[in-house]
Amino acid sequence: MSDKKEVIICLGSSCFARGNKKTVQAITTYIKEHNLNDLVYFHGGHCFGLCDKGPIVKVGKTLFEDVDPINVLDVLAKELEE
Ligand code: FES
Repeated sequence: MSDKKEVIICLGSSCFARGNKKTVQAITTYIKEHNLNDLVYFHGGHCFGLCDKGPIVKVGKTLFEDVDPINVLDVLAKELEE
């Protein structure tokens, strides 16, 4: 594994239906616009078992709850730009 920062978006049916479908786009666009392709490994994941707290996105070792296409931008700004 490289030292890329891992970003996992839950694509389980609950999170996907409740907004992660759009959040995938938001994250993809953010990574592209900020030229983070070489620094970030972004991919989808299965249900984290936290559907009632979702939509879920995980950055590194940290889980974020109630993520939407807007607040995910703050999460990415904070977690990815050190
Ligand atoms: S579907 Fe995302 S935590 Fe279950």
